[in-house]
Amino acid sequence: MNHADTPARYDARTILLHWTTAGLVVALWALGQTIDWFPKGTLRIGARGTHILLGVVLAAVLVARIRWRLSGGARLPSAEPAWLGRAAKLGHGLLYLLLVAAVLLGVANVWVRGDNIFNLFTVPAFDPGNKALRHQVGDLHEWAANLLGGLALLHAAAALFHHQVLKDGVLLRMRRLRGAG
Ligand code: HEM
Ligand code: HEM
Repeated sequence: MNHADTPARYDARTILLHWTTAGLVVALWALGQTIDWFPKGTLRIGARGTHILLGVVLAAVLVARIRWRLSGGARLPSAEPAWLGRAAKLGHGLLYLLLVAAVLLGVANVWVRGDNIFNLFTVPAFDPGNKALRHQVGDLHEWAANLLGGLALLHAAAALFHHQVLKDGVLLRMRRLRGAG
């Protein structure tokens, strides 16, 4: 297929869900990395609570996104040669997988740590004396988050390469133009 003929853009809901996901992942990653910079006490509890709250919002957005992807959401044909199209598909699949893993491990992290959410309520620790479990789950969450961040950076670089170098309209498929389909 000629790139210039690539038919349409994603539908508005897919685009909204994509950019909401991207914004939340950037905010979650940055906040996750900086929680310990906040002084102990109310500020750190607030930062951690905000991270957890945004994580829960991301979980809801992700469920909506996957449901929409499996039902009505637009699935556009790849704009690349077959092998590269397969690589892009694999990359997108991995992004979904890492999103789900980071969110599930985040929830598990709250559960094994036990947490104070905004000084409003507490989540009791699953096994309070078990420091090893706490470290394991914390490390796994960090790994999933960092892998997701790394792959998302590569993905964004690929999108910008399409836009600036190949000039094939792939980035525009994920951007809504006023008044356009
Ligand atoms: C894509 C989604 C997410 C990303 C990118 C992310 C990222 C991170 C990062 C980078 C850290 C710091 C890890 C470390 O240095 O130990 C962290 C910690 C944490 N995350 Fe997430 N996270 C996500 C989702 C969630 C969710 C859904 C929850 C819970 C509902 C959650 C709960 C936590 C908790 C409790 C911590 C420990 C905070 C602390 O050490 O004080 N995260 N996250
Ligand atoms: C954390 C950040 C991001 C995540 C988790 C993410 C995730 C995804 C996923 C899973 C898809 C596949 C959509 C599907 O087929 O269902 C996708 C598509 C896309 N993303 Fe991202 N994305 C992120 C950031 C970005 C950024 C920063 C850009 C642009 C610079 C971008 C541009 C695109 C484009 C153009 C597509 C459509 C590709 C095509 O039609 O072949 N994404 N993204």
